Amino acid sequence: GSRVVIEEFLTGEEASFICMIDGDNILPMATSQDHKRIFEGDQGPNTGGMGAYSPAPVVTAEVFDRAMTEIMRPTVEGMKKDGHVYTGFLYAGLMIDEQGQPRVIEFNCRFGDPETQVVLPLLDSDLVEIMLACIDGKLADCNILWKNGAAVCVVMSAGGYPGEYKKGDLITGIDAAEAAGTLVFHAGTAKTPEGFTTNGGRVLGVTAYDTDIKAAVQKAYAGVEKINFEGRHYRKDIAQRALQRLK
Ligand code: GLY
Repeated sequence: GSRVVIEEFLTGEEASFICMIDGDNILPMATSQDHKRIFEGDQGPNTGGMGAYSPAPVVTAEVFDRAMTEIMRPTVEGMKKDGHVYTGFLYAGLMIDEQGQPRVIEFNCRFGDPETQVVLPLLDSDLVEIMLACIDGKLADCNILWKNGAAVCVVMSAGGYPGEYKKGDLITGIDAAEAAGTLVFHAGTAKTPEGFTTNGGRVLGVTAYDTDIKAAVQKAYAGVEKINFEGRHYRKDIAQRALQRLK
């Protein structure tokens, strides 16, 4: 090419700022944070997401207001002005610097994976009603309720992912993890006469809701420990940034 694009290098902490948009009105979901690298300490190659937690303490009330007024509102207005009225989930991946200035890294037109797994357990309203209101342009009338507490999702992946990995290994312990109070979301599994087997890179999202982030982390990992399959991998530091902030 004949053109070179030089971009500012952004430092800070990332957060997922996901909203429902009905063309005009913006309904923010609970904030969250994803862990994109395969290894602890954000090392190794990028993945589809190795875990998430919600809410994200890096999004303080002030950062939240800035994200709404400086990013979401102008984006929705801009799309409308350009003749592209937007309806649905709009996901802004934000980098938040030391001064609490949010900057956009990316926009996605989806709820986010694994963010959805941690946002939905906190929702205390009917998701279908909100979605219907969104389609009908009536989000302003929605009274969305959120639970107190926090949710954490630990993704269990196949050995080798995000490189080459094996499929077809038997998974045990899902029932035990659910009995321990976790919600186990299937990502890359297959149902066979022998039971569930691995069938993708990210296999399961073991999710816990509890009164606070520390309790949710403990519960999620207690669930993870009950689940086994050959070569299973998971990060042991999901939500560490939130726990550090508490300290
Ligand atoms: N968790 C990142 C995404 O859904 O794009």
